[in-house]
Amino acid sequence: MSQAELPRLTVIGTGYLGATHAICMASLGYDVVGLDVDPGKIEKLRSGQVPFFEPGLPELLTKTLESGRLRFTTSYEEAADHGDVHFLCVGTPQQPGSDACDLTYVDAAVRGLAPHLTRRCLVAGKSTVPVGTAARLGALLRELAPAGDDVELAWNPEFLREGFAVDDTLAPDRLVFGVSSEWARERLIAAFQPILERGTPTVVTDLATAELVKVAANSFLATKISYINAMAEVCEATGADVRDLAQALAYDDRIGGRFLQPGLGFGGGCLPKDIRAFAHRAEEIGVGQAVSFLREVDAINRRRRSRTIDLVRELLGGHLNGKRIACLGAAFKPNSDDIRDAPALDVARTMHGLGANVRVYDPAALDNARRTYPELRYGTSTLDAARDADVVVLLTEWTEFREIQPSALAQVVRHPRIVDGRHALDADAWRAAGWEYRALGRP
Ligand code: UDX
Repeated sequence: MSQAELPRLTVIGTGYLGATHAICMASLGYDVVGLDVDPGKIEKLRSGQVPFFEPGLPELLTKTLESGRLRFTTSYEEAADHGDVHFLCVGTPQQPGSDACDLTYVDAAVRGLAPHLTRRCLVAGKSTVPVGTAARLGALLRELAPAGDDVELAWNPEFLREGFAVDDTLAPDRLVFGVSSEWARERLIAAFQPILERGTPTVVTDLATAELVKVAANSFLATKISYINAMAEVCEATGADVRDLAQALAYDDRIGGRFLQPGLGFGGGCLPKDIRAFAHRAEEIGVGQAVSFLREVDAINRRRRSRTIDLVRELLGGHLNGKRIACLGAAFKPNSDDIRDAPALDVARTMHGLGANVRVYDPAALDNARRTYPELRYGTSTLDAARDADVVVLLTEWTEFREIQPSALAQVVRHPRIVDGRHALDADAWRAAGWEYRALGRP
């Protein structure tokens, strides 16, 4: 397919998912318009700044802006005029006070775009939505668009991981096309041509299956993490070592070692809210029992946070009140500045609430943390946060923290005590350097 024949793309919503998708598709040769309702975000992107931390993305944004194939707008009219395929990439957060998914932004995007669709085009949803949403949105599009039945809806879930978003977008494990017609399938093939040419496995299916693939994948990953963390609880009661246990399990090819790292558990903008929304949706459609285990997966995950605080309390001789605690990490995982449902900040805030004098440091997420939780105190570096600490708690496994020299840290703290919430440190080396070392699920 020559470049002139490539479909013109729009990307509605330029958050983590949409900005990455827009930039990567432009880098593959597509002519792309990215739309967001937030003028500040659009202004930043236009001037070559990625509004969040994602390795490799700023360089790719500069390159694609220079190529002239990537533009940003706040106008639905402009987007509708440009696009042959419109990707919906807006957020679907958890509703406040409920486990259900908040579809406000998806609905607003469809209602914003549809009245301007005057010719045949495909709208492809990428956001994570409860099963049944695509069918509803398809009907809404046909009703609101002047082009009527010429506007079709497809679902094309996204599996990118923060921190690896560029690679996951340009070289995904698989593509899933949920379609209701041969024309929609052909349009998606044209929209992913360079990626398909690499032999990327592709599953073509119906809308409902495509919606479900995403939540099924994230539920499985969450279950695997909570499984090993449940084993950690059993280890704690028996004096066994969950690290050795996980290693031994991982040698079994059928189990595998990925997503089997025990510790403080999962967080972020996807796994926690996706399993809750899935359980909620399953209950709505009468199959709640089939996925009721996801409630337990969630509960195990939450218990890791309180158990981490128990370890800190034990090290401090029974209470946190007035103690100086250095928290290393705020982001929900390393190589990200995302603090949505971050286990690290949950632990830091709870300890602060219990009267501890908490000081947090993170290599990338400090600005976000400070803005959202101004009540916490923040350090400018690991050593700054750890100065005079009664205990250090490692909460996000950044490489920078893995490489800390125990002797260097020992010089600034008041007491050499550390809780390793992510099994990121060499326990023997820290103990040899005079530290009291504790980790979840280890003797
Ligand atoms: C996830 C999915 O991986 C991705 O496919 C989906 O599209 C979006 O959600 P992401 O939120 O970027 O991606 O995070 P991921 O790398 O999957 O990690 C999720 C959480 O699990 C993190 O908090 C991480 O610290 C935790 N985790 C991961 C563990 O606690 N143990 C592990 O073994 C692996």
